[in-house]
Amino acid sequence: MNISEYYQPDFYHFCENTIKLADEASKLLSSMKDFPDVRVLDLCSGCGVVGMEILARLSRPVRVDFLELQVEFNQYFKRNLSMFPKEYVSNMKLINGNFTDKNLLAEMKGRYDLVVSNPPFYLSDKARLGTNEKKNICRFFIRGLPPQFWEFCFMALKDDGNCLVLTKDDVDLCPPSNNFSWNVLDRYGDHLLVLASVLDKNGC
Ligand SMILES: C[S@@+](CC[C@H](N)C(=O)[O-])C[C@H]1O[C@@H](n2cnc3c(N)ncnc32)[C@H](O)[C@@H]1O
Repeated sequence: MNISEYYQPDFYHFCENTIKLADEASKLLSSMKDFPDVRVLDLCSGCGVVGMEILARLSRPVRVDFLELQVEFNQYFKRNLSMFPKEYVSNMKLINGNFTDKNLLAEMKGRYDLVVSNPPFYLSDKARLGTNEKKNICRFFIRGLPPQFWEFCFMALKDDGNCLVLTKDDVDLCPPSNNFSWNVLDRYGDHLLVLASVLDKNGC
């Protein structure tokens, strides 16, 4: 569907970089040896645009789970989902949860070939929060911190898994080098598109 047709709440609208992320993710997935038998997690999924745009770009559907903290996005996710053909809809599942939740992490452990994410961009101690709490949760790491975000990515991925994440050029937001080898695929202003591959999981 056309990106302008996505339903979104007033407190958060995605930007063009989100679509670039979906573009790169679909190329990566198409090149995977197990495609289309791969499983994807759209972490911090909001209205679902990243995972849905990935599916829209693939020649065959893959399984995509969406993890989002704020239930306020659910109605928008459901309306966006209804725009997709049935064979795609059965491949998409929304989970409401927090990436800091250890029980959720235990449940999702080692499940995914690819984690794709456009998470919050700012640390709350480095910028001034606005008055809208829901918007703040979208923009700032206030319901979980970057180390917890990366731990969730690492644990939820298979041993040879990858994640593709939009982040900022800030050392506190980058993947931890003890768990990932990573490089910057692209830069959009001060946003980075990072590809991070899981390092040895032995001992974790
Ligand atoms: C920058 S927005 C991006 C939303 C969507 N991925 C997009 O590109 O339009 C970040 C999202 O992360 C969610 N979020 C923030 N903290 C979270 C947490 N601890 N666990 C899960 N989701 C979280 C927010 O509610 C918000 O939907």
